[in-house]
Amino acid sequence: MKCYSTVLVVLHWVLVLFVMIALFMGFDIASLSHELDLKVDRLVIHIIAGVLIGFAFLLRLAIKSLQPSNAPSQTNHSLAGWLAEAYYAGLYVLILSVVTSGIAMSIEVDFLSIVAQGDTIPQELTFFVSRQLHELLTRLLMVAISIHILAALYNQLILKDRLVSRMWFGKR
Ligand code: HEM
Repeated sequence: MKCYSTVLVVLHWVLVLFVMIALFMGFDIASLSHELDLKVDRLVIHIIAGVLIGFAFLLRLAIKSLQPSNAPSQTNHSLAGWLAEAYYAGLYVLILSVVTSGIAMSIEVDFLSIVAQGDTIPQELTFFVSRQLHELLTRLLMVAISIHILAALYNQLILKDRLVSRMWFGKR
């Protein structure tokens, strides 16, 4: 079975780690409406993680499309193959949309001035459209990630096709 190249495997697991950090931090930050200084400190880390996710994701996508030999063919021409292809396209769009809505929110809130000049962050950001979008998109991302994990477990444990092993280290 053809495996992903080491660089694609590393980037995949780096993305998993950073998306988990961004999700957990996001929920934590959203619940802080009174400790505003703490909220800003945590938002700085959340934003750095979010922007790194965007870079790592685009880098992985570029490597995959510029050097197809780095990645095994993901799908075949069965119905399941087409569904998997549509699912992956949706997942990619979703990740980029979560990052973009986060960046849009930081611009709308003028987060740079808040950090650089010590301006106060509004207690609630929920009236910003970009904030509402970010919230909705992160929920959709969680559903998509759950499907991804269930599909991987189904392939590995029920079909026993060692599909998950393609995204791990070892003999290429
Ligand atoms: C894949 C990347 C990201 C994930 C998974 C993520 C996740 C989250 C989650 C789950 C929330 C809480 C939403 C809620 O339930 O109300 C949140 C809030 C937030 N995120 Fe992100 N985020 C990501 C990227 C970004 C980026 C790139 C930025 C900015 C450049 C950003 C800025 C914010 C801000 C400002 C909040 C608002 C917190 C509040 O309302 O108090 N996020 N994020």
